[in-house]
Amino acid sequence: AYVVAEPCINCKYTHCASVCPVDAFREGPNFLAIDPFECIDCDACVPECPVEAIYPDDELPLEWEHYIDLNDRLSEQWMDHHVRETTEAMEDADEWAEKEDKDELLVE
Ligand code: F3S
Repeated sequence: AYVVAEPCINCKYTHCASVCPVDAFREGPNFLAIDPFECIDCDACVPECPVEAIYPDDELPLEWEHYIDLNDRLSEQWMDHHVRETTEAMEDADEWAEKEDKDELLVE
């Protein structure tokens, strides 16, 4: 499955969600997660993300490996929060896009 990683935090551009053919994206307060049981590995979302937050699980940078479990857990937690269209990004998304070490800011 594909996995949303740290760069998405506080950006949530949602460009990814509008191209997903199986509606695998779930929305939290400041992050999106992909439901690994719905993702069909089609690769459509990857080039859409302006901050390059999405990776196939076997190509995730090491520092973000815990996002595999996070996407699994959060997509279940947010199972009633499907996101299928591009909506407005978060306030100051463009500024957050430049920042690193956003891990601890993820709101569940
Ligand atoms: Fe996040 Fe990128 Fe989608 S910032 S909402 S993974 S387009």
